[in-house]
Amino acid sequence: MTPLQLIVLCTLLLVWWIEAEHVYPSPNERENDSDFWMKLGEEEINEALAQTKNTNVAKNVILFLGDGMGITATTAGRIFKGQKQGHAGEEGYLVWERFPNIGLLKTYNLDKQVPDSAATATAFLSGVKGNYKTLGVNGKVKVNDCTASLVKENRVKSIIEWAQEAGKETGFVTTTQVTHATPAALYAKSPSRKWQCDTRIKALGKNASSCKDIARQLVEDEPGRNIKVIMGGGRQEMGSPLTKDVMQDCVRSDGRDLVSQWKSDREAEGKSYSYATSTGELRAIDLENTDFILGLFGDLHSPYEVDRDNSSQGTPHIKEMVEVALRRLRRHEEGYFLLVEGGRIDHGLHDSKPKRALEEIVAFEEALQKVLELVDLEETLVLVTADHSHVMTMNGYPERGNNILGLVETSEDISDGLPYTTLMFTNGPGFNYTWNHLKVQRRNLTGVETDDKDYVSHSGVPTHEGSETHGGEDVAVYASGPMAHLFHRVHEQTYVAHVMGYAACIGPYKGCVRSVEHPSNAYKANEDFRGSRASSTANAANWLFVYMIGVLQFMKNLNIC
Ligand SMILES: *[C@@H]1O[C@H](CO)[C@@H](O)[C@H](O)[C@H]1NC(C)=O
Ligand SMILES: *[C@@H]1O[C@H](CO)[C@@H](O)[C@H](O)[C@H]1NC(C)=O
Ligand SMILES: *[C@@H]1O[C@H](CO)[C@@H](O)[C@H](O)[C@H]1NC(C)=O
Ligand SMILES: *[C@@H]1O[C@H](CO)[C@@H](O)[C@H](O)[C@H]1NC(C)=O
Ligand SMILES: [Zn+2]
Repeated sequence: MTPLQLIVLCTLLLVWWIEAEHVYPSPNERENDSDFWMKLGEEEINEALAQTKNTNVAKNVILFLGDGMGITATTAGRIFKGQKQGHAGEEGYLVWERFPNIGLLKTYNLDKQVPDSAATATAFLSGVKGNYKTLGVNGKVKVNDCTASLVKENRVKSIIEWAQEAGKETGFVTTTQVTHATPAALYAKSPSRKWQCDTRIKALGKNASSCKDIARQLVEDEPGRNIKVIMGGGRQEMGSPLTKDVMQDCVRSDGRDLVSQWKSDREAEGKSYSYATSTGELRAIDLENTDFILGLFGDLHSPYEVDRDNSSQGTPHIKEMVEVALRRLRRHEEGYFLLVEGGRIDHGLHDSKPKRALEEIVAFEEALQKVLELVDLEETLVLVTADHSHVMTMNGYPERGNNILGLVETSEDISDGLPYTTLMFTNGPGFNYTWNHLKVQRRNLTGVETDDKDYVSHSGVPTHEGSETHGGEDVAVYASGPMAHLFHRVHEQTYVAHVMGYAACIGPYKGCVRSVEHPSNAYKANEDFRGSRASSTANAANWLFVYMIGVLQFMKNLNIC
């Protein structure tokens, strides 16, 4: 064999090896030993015993909402995160998965077993359950019922109104339109989440003057006009000049330019403001001297993380938006409420493109990590939850560490002998069967790049493109900070708003009086959550700390000290 042949052969072998390398190794070298698990169990017991209740009044409340981020997506996101770092992934945690308290939430709408994002947002932001596709109104209002939505008793107040009434500043950051269902439930009352601009209302033959569109409510009405930080996409609904040739989703027909209106309102009030449409403009904001911030980073939505232009002419990472929002809001002495929505997790799943959804979860987590570096959990309640799930499932018996987006090549349980992916959907656009003149066959995925951002995963029931549906099982809520321990069982989703209100003593709980203790939280922002070898000393120090707290607690219980 000539040296050249040898080089070619070695290169081919290397390429083959890299391609075949889709099973990631565990970072826990000793996980095959019983001792490893006995020690881990003991450490977790000690951590649980060391937990104290933080009964402080929350000065600040931050709600992280992963749109559509059900339990399956969360587990897949956890594995994906680990695999991006070269680990198997199952052994790791997402940052919020180490929060000290957790509960499960029932997400149904009053008229639907499986909910949409508008009525669920009303539930967790206002504490009252509503009907499918309605915003900021109770069960007396059905979708599109303008008249019922105008009845005062049918309109509900959200956490953003409770916070503003208590003198706190408020803001929201989303990757969807600023008028999209989740943020809209903060400030709008509408019988339809679709009424983001006037055109949609007129198309139904309804009166767009009495039932004002969502974008106008954001700019013109209370509490929208008082929101200090507004970031997301949605230039169409706001009547801004469009910069790119995008899908015409909701283009205004009344000729209003709501961004100009927002700016001139600030001028009339004598308040300083900044408007940004790119990362460069966002970075140029003087955060110490700006009262109001409006960032619109898309004609439609803010782009998916996998498509984002990360130059300064492009659009910001969710982490950067959140950091700006927080640095602005935390200047306020009375505290703040901030909603952060990872809105495109939901879109990736509706498209049945798992890679898109999982990258959004990782970006969402980075934003949370940044927040935890900036806040004090003694005075800030931080919640992470989802509005609803999706019909994605993690199935088959893939090997430990198998690429979460990859193929399961062989499985005795599969009767057609074809490979499949771990993540599939019970319905969606990926319905794909053919007739080979003998039998119906599903798509042969051999050689298909299933970890491509545009790979559409298989589904059992066909839907229109982008219309894989939500799932109806419970979602989790993860909590840290004052009163986080109020999440303790399966709850109605509406309970989230009540816990936020109670923790901060605002809204229906504004009279609350309670003794303020100063316990330390089990959660520490600097703790390493990846469970990787590199950080074992940091972990050991943390565990030692937790262990010592546990011993002290034990001695206290025995009245030794
Ligand atoms: C655990 O043992 C299995 C064989 O049972 C082996 O394949 C695997 O690599 C071992 N894991 C580690 C982390 O050493
Ligand atoms: C629409 O509503 C406005 C405000 O409530 C009212 O003044 C107007 O007459 C209504 N228009 C129609 C066509 O009903
Ligand atoms: C269905 O499978 C065929 C190959 O069998 C592929 O070319 C096509 O893109 C697939 N369609 C969808 C929607 O996945
Ligand atoms: C699937 O495709 C691969 C590659 O084209 C082929 O080798 C295999 O036989 C196919 N499997 C079936 C069951 O048709
Ligand atoms: Zn959705």
